[in-house]
Amino acid sequence: MQPNRLWSIALSVCLAGQASVWGLELNINDQESIKTAAATTAFNMMSQYHGNESGHIPGKLPDTWWEGGAMFMTLIQYWFWTGDPSYNEVTTQGMLWQKGSNDYFPSNYSQYLGNDDQVFWGLAAMTAAELNYPEQDGQPSWLSLAQGVFNTQVPRWDMSSCQGGLQWQIWPYQAGYTTKNSVSNGGLFQLAARLGRYTNNQTYTDWAEKIWDWSATTPLLRKSDWTIADTTTTLSDCKAHGDLQWTYNYGMYLSGAAYMYNHTNGDTKWKNGLDGLLQTTFSQFFPKQFGGNVMSEISCEPNMMCDRNQDCFKGFLASWLTFITTIVPYTEGQILPKIQASAEAAAKQCSGGSQKSKCGRRWHQPTWDGTTSLEEDMSALSVFSSNMIKFKKGDIAPYTANSGGKSESNPTAGTGSGDDQNDTKPEPITTADRAGASILTILFVCGWVAAVTWLVYGG
Ligand SMILES: *[C@@H]1O[C@H](CO)[C@@H](O)[C@H](O)[C@H]1NC(C)=O
Ligand SMILES: *[C@@H]1O[C@H](CO)[C@@H](O)[C@H](O)[C@H]1NC(C)=O
Ligand SMILES: *[C@@H]1O[C@H](CO)[C@@H](O)[C@H](O)[C@H]1NC(C)=O
Ligand SMILES: *[C@@H]1O[C@H](CO)[C@@H](O)[C@H](O)[C@H]1NC(C)=O
Repeated sequence: MQPNRLWSIALSVCLAGQASVWGLELNINDQESIKTAAATTAFNMMSQYHGNESGHIPGKLPDTWWEGGAMFMTLIQYWFWTGDPSYNEVTTQGMLWQKGSNDYFPSNYSQYLGNDDQVFWGLAAMTAAELNYPEQDGQPSWLSLAQGVFNTQVPRWDMSSCQGGLQWQIWPYQAGYTTKNSVSNGGLFQLAARLGRYTNNQTYTDWAEKIWDWSATTPLLRKSDWTIADTTTTLSDCKAHGDLQWTYNYGMYLSGAAYMYNHTNGDTKWKNGLDGLLQTTFSQFFPKQFGGNVMSEISCEPNMMCDRNQDCFKGFLASWLTFITTIVPYTEGQILPKIQASAEAAAKQCSGGSQKSKCGRRWHQPTWDGTTSLEEDMSALSVFSSNMIKFKKGDIAPYTANSGGKSESNPTAGTGSGDDQNDTKPEPITTADRAGASILTILFVCGWVAAVTWLVYGG
């Protein structure tokens, strides 16, 4: 570590400890200022993580599983943009602890996980692969863990309604089983597109194309006005639409389209999708009333009713938009001013708590809005780190196997015979099961009749 990195970390820790007057200072034209704001926010966020302490489970946050993957993805990006490895150890530990049978479907939680929960860990692993985040000896590669998620999700593609699509939930006993949603389908779309670009294996890009095309037959991706519905239902054959607008749904599809655009060397199909979704993203989530460049989670910020999941979303859109500029260079002029203005605004909002550096929710509001959470810190951390793009030298585009990416491919990851293998797809109810159930019913009824008969006539 360079001495001035140490200095800025030391400074940020002191600031976190005693900046009673300033809040976060952020000058987006000064890389030390960006690093300090990011380091302070990372420190605040990680002060709320205890998974690496004895008696706790690595990678597991209280009452949520998916957010662990999202948090590590954010920390991997933080490391990449700022060069600060302070959280690498804790990140690697959590990422590997939760890997399940190399598929991010660990049996402790798999009974209630949705496809969207699993895919966030897959995207974190993919991020590690693309950024050459250090691999761990004797452990599966980051790329293979992303492949393991792909390999377990693809068999869940459901042809029993809507001619395709992933259900939100994996298990029939969960309410979301009859929902098909954009974050699950967009998540696998993005993962497939990134795997396709990294490995140059057409199986992945074919799936990306298939998911995109299928989405466009439903309200989840409306090409007529480039809007993304949050949900649709199997019972309506994917005609119903839950139209709440969320930043991360747009981020999922935008990012996947950008990888496909790059991989196909600028195919107009992907350019149209990308340009269309960018325009909607800009007009909806960067409201004119806040100057047009500051991101807002419009479906829950006005009434301050965002839940902890929703408080994470802005960070994903910020980081994915930033990476889009590295693989679709013509978007830089449109995107970066929004990332810059959002970071400057977020820094003012990050003035809560006794240390006056905790982040609230509404980036557009220049005074702290009174809320604090790990999720709000995580979102702000993403937008701060992303601003290092102006200063980072050398390769900043996500690597591929051909351009220096070192993570090893294992196309069959997650399909082995590990503990979790039986959990990856619900077993269809077979005729034998039904017959078995009928026999039990018959035996029960017969037993009951026999008992009643005995009572009436026997005794
Ligand atoms: C846990 O990780 C934090 C960094 O987030 C580190 O400061 C702390 O020392 C670690 N604790 C243990 C017990 O390893
Ligand atoms: C599963 O639960 C056990 C018991 O609480 C715990 O020791 C283990 O670390 C957990 N594994 C994961 C992957 O969370
Ligand atoms: C694809 O990304 C690379 C960076 O990896 C960039 O140099 C190239 O211009 C991009 N291709 C297109 C068609 O924009
Ligand atoms: C491409 O990916 C598919 C699906 O995982 C796999 O079956 C196939 O072996 C891969 N091909 C190569 C050349 O890696």
